Amino acid sequence: MKITIRQETREDHKEVFSLIEKAFEKEPYSDHREQFLVERLRKSSAFIPQLSLVAEAKGVVVGYILVTALKIKGEREEFDSLALAPVAVLPELHGKGIGAQLIEEAHRKAIELGYTSVILLGHAAYYPRFGYRQAHTFGITLPFEVPKENCMAIELVADALKGVQGVVAYPQEFYE
Ligand SMILES: CC(C)(COP(=O)(O)OP(=O)(O)OC[C@H]1O[C@@H](n2cnc3c(N)ncnc32)[C@H](O)[C@@H]1OP(=O)(O)O)[C@@H](O)C(=O)NCCC(=O)NCCS
Repeated sequence: MKITIRQETREDHKEVFSLIEKAFEKEPYSDHREQFLVERLRKSSAFIPQLSLVAEAKGVVVGYILVTALKIKGEREEFDSLALAPVAVLPELHGKGIGAQLIEEAHRKAIELGYTSVILLGHAAYYPRFGYRQAHTFGITLPFEVPKENCMAIELVADALKGVQGVVAYPQEFYE
């Protein structure tokens, strides 16, 4: 399936809202409010427009990914990183590689912008194929009570997380 990945524009907001709603509708772990999280993040200082991407096929938005800025707070230092949340694909188009292309493109753009790592909370079986590992193996923990296997991190640049230890501080918008 031929898709184009591009930066989201204001005109996409409505379609992205409905896409996210549909994508998470049948996900048992979801609070079904991810579309509202995206609306809040777009207005926050953590928002990076170049890392808000849509996948488009024949003029229709079929996938979306948002990567925002966060900090990892160590005992003495804090480190810049990114949060991948959410990635979503129209349910009828799952399994066609759209999610993978969105993730790879978001990684490429993040590297271009000078970022070196990404943190996420997600399906333990999906993300390792892109190079994600359990975050605790780097000495990074998430500020929520969640299974370790769902808290993941990737080094976009070799050894980017060497010596980076601490607790992830999500933007306030994640908690509202
Ligand atoms: C997760 C999601 C974005 C993947 O998009 P996609 O375009 O279907 O993914 P791809 O085609 O690139 O990859 C398909 C693979 O992902 C796997 N996969 C999809 N959802 C998965 C899940 N919940 N747990 C484990 N693996 C999953 C499929 O089994 C398939 O594996 P295979 O390649 O070994 O057959 C999509 O399933 C989606 O929108 N899900 C609902 C929203 C969601 O859960 N988002 C992620 C939040 S962590």
